[in-house]
Amino acid sequence: MASDLIWAAADATDALEREFAALGMEAREVDEGLFALPEPEEGGRRALPRFVFSRQVLPGATELHAESIRAFARAIVDAIVGVFPDGAPWSLHVVPFEPVPRGASLGARASHRRVRSERPSEAETRKGRVPAARCSFIEEAVVELLGERRRHLLRARRTETRHFKSDESVVQLLLVEPERGFLSVAKAPWPYEHRHQLSFFPGGKAPVAVDKRPPSRAFAKLIEAEERMGRHIAVGDTVVDLGAAPGSWTFVAVERGARVVSVDRSELRADLLAHPHVRFVRGDAFRFEPEATVDWLICDVIARAERSAELLLKWLRRGNCRHFVVTLKVDDEAPGTLLQGLASDLAELSSDYWLQKLTANKKEVCAFGTARSVREDARR
Ligand SMILES: C[S@@+](CC[C@H](N)C(=O)[O-])C[C@H]1O[C@@H](n2cnc3c(N)ncnc32)[C@H](O)[C@@H]1O
Repeated sequence: MASDLIWAAADATDALEREFAALGMEAREVDEGLFALPEPEEGGRRALPRFVFSRQVLPGATELHAESIRAFARAIVDAIVGVFPDGAPWSLHVVPFEPVPRGASLGARASHRRVRSERPSEAETRKGRVPAARCSFIEEAVVELLGERRRHLLRARRTETRHFKSDESVVQLLLVEPERGFLSVAKAPWPYEHRHQLSFFPGGKAPVAVDKRPPSRAFAKLIEAEERMGRHIAVGDTVVDLGAAPGSWTFVAVERGARVVSVDRSELRADLLAHPHVRFVRGDAFRFEPEATVDWLICDVIARAERSAELLLKWLRRGNCRHFVVTLKVDDEAPGTLLQGLASDLAELSSDYWLQKLTANKKEVCAFGTARSVREDARR
């Protein structure tokens, strides 16, 4: 039987369950942090809500048992031959399941503890961890089979990790055990239409950005948000960075050639303070008023989520920014009503938005997108 599977973001199984409850949805947990939504009535396709705490969705997934790599590959090929239109692009994501144990906090503490210990978790040991190499071998076997039988399908396969096009289909295999997985085939235009739920990153996991030059690891959040929205700070853009110190978001913005006003109570790192494209304003981020509309509001202030959400909505209502990336600090008791309210305000005030826990987020989520008031001719 096919069902839509929702996979919780790291440390967010409890938070995702609270989201299901707030949305009045019943979900069955099929593995730790992996939930199946009941079949939509009359076999129709359901419109999936945008879950804040999911890392990936697998629409219409079916359970698959196969004894060998070749058998998995054959099942994938059988599922797509004659289903994907000739010549239309498609992507293949074969990923190992990472359990998301219940009761883990949303915070950094739990994940740091996990990173420090080299041993697999109890859950992983019990289920038999699936090595990433097995997934690569299955992908290679699919390529080999298509090379023998369906060269036109092979030619249409997309291998770059980037936004789905409207004519692009996606096949996902999530391996929960070496010989058991869930197979999902999403035909175009579903992936494009659900690009806020179905990540183009395989398994919904953004690669870890590596750069030793910025003053802190926080830069990874801004880069991931840019990647996910498919839009980057560009040369000549104007940026306001609220809660900017020590300055890694400001660093990213000036690296891209933008002019930045950086606001914080604490100082930026000396080189950024002296940068000709940075103006530092010491003060309260919540009282800062821009002189004119800026291309980007980026905000990573440590404050209650309610305050950061209000600040973002104020900027959008006043037409103060064209694009935004705003961190919302949420604790273990994720304020579901706050996030739901913010999502509906963003749906009204933005032409496109995401509200989700990024791979790089610990005890926080991120709102990013483009203001509705942005003029089409101002878009790149
Ligand atoms: C997580 S850090 C920001 C890190 C920064 N994005 C970076 O990449 O380096 C949060 C910052 O918010 C600042 N902050 C907290 N409350 C503030 C307020 N009301 N006004 C201005 N800055 C504030 C803190 O001083 C701190 O530097």
